[in-house]
Amino acid sequence: MAKTRILSGTRPTSQLHLGNLLGALENWKKFQDEDAFFMIADWHALTTEYESHAKIKENVFEVALDYLASGLDPARATIFVQSHVHQHAELALLLSMMTPLSWLERNPTYKDQIDELKEKELHTHGFLGYPVLQAADILLYQADTVPVGEDQLPHLELAREIARRFNHLYGKKVFKEPEALLSKVKKLPGLDGRKMSKSYGNAIYLSDSPQEVDKKVMQMVTDPARKRREDKGNPDVCPVYFYHKIFNTPENVKVVDLECRSAARGCVDCKREMSKCLQTFMAPIYEKRLELKSKKDYVLDVLKNGAKKAAEIAEKTLQEAKSAAGL
Ligand code: TRP
Ligand code: SF4
Repeated sequence: MAKTRILSGTRPTSQLHLGNLLGALENWKKFQDEDAFFMIADWHALTTEYESHAKIKENVFEVALDYLASGLDPARATIFVQSHVHQHAELALLLSMMTPLSWLERNPTYKDQIDELKEKELHTHGFLGYPVLQAADILLYQADTVPVGEDQLPHLELAREIARRFNHLYGKKVFKEPEALLSKVKKLPGLDGRKMSKSYGNAIYLSDSPQEVDKKVMQMVTDPARKRREDKGNPDVCPVYFYHKIFNTPENVKVVDLECRSAARGCVDCKREMSKCLQTFMAPIYEKRLELKSKKDYVLDVLKNGAKKAAEIAEKTLQEAKSAAGL
């Protein structure tokens, strides 16, 4: 049976955190024995970070470390940097010719991000065209399936619409319409209980040492109604409990639940226990990351080989698309 072509990517705007690992990378890893492509979307990072461009190259390397340390395996999947494969930029330009502006202007993530990142000037051509570039990323590889978080669904729908419009206009089935595949994990809370995000400053990074992880866990918010040690707690509203459910054993989770509700355990001890479990989970990733960091040439080689493999496929699609459009 033919393998499914999978493509996904992240923007290297910072190092990756535990939310990225559980929400994206763990899901991607399941597809490594399919025909998988995992990209570091540096052009997309530039759409919002064009003023702090100096950090992008550094972050590309950091994200490559995060990918490899988390278990993305270059022997099975193609791992590459978007800007190393020039076909992405070229197809994005071609697609931009026939993408109606109204499709981009009504894109919900466009409006949300402009509001959210008020301090940045995002009324740019590149930022409005973000989904066109993302469509190019996906369509170049004729991807069947794109594993993404819920926030990316509008972009996937646009990629499908762009593919359909292109195929229709030029009377040729150049592009396959990709399917989104939602990851099932709930959004991981950060240290303050809000969704874990770099911009909230509440993240635990894969590059955090065990000591840093411990320090961050001890700062986590708990059930806000539990003010004193003798107050009974409600684990269902406590981010520390959310982590216990992921990183502790089912038997221990039951004990945490009971002891929290009866005030038999205090939050400090509860965090200590969770921190140990989390550190056990993160230690191999942290150590592998340290090791890879000292093997810079190896990592750069992985990216170089990945780009070469990606470009072969991308070039074929690009030629078909250019020729269909009369170039
Ligand atoms: N926009 C995606 C995000 O912010 C990153 C991305 C870029 C992507 N190109 C992609 C995801 C192609 C899937 C497929 O998470
Ligand atoms: Fe949360 Fe644990 Fe405190 Fe209960 S005891 S509120 S689960 S940290």
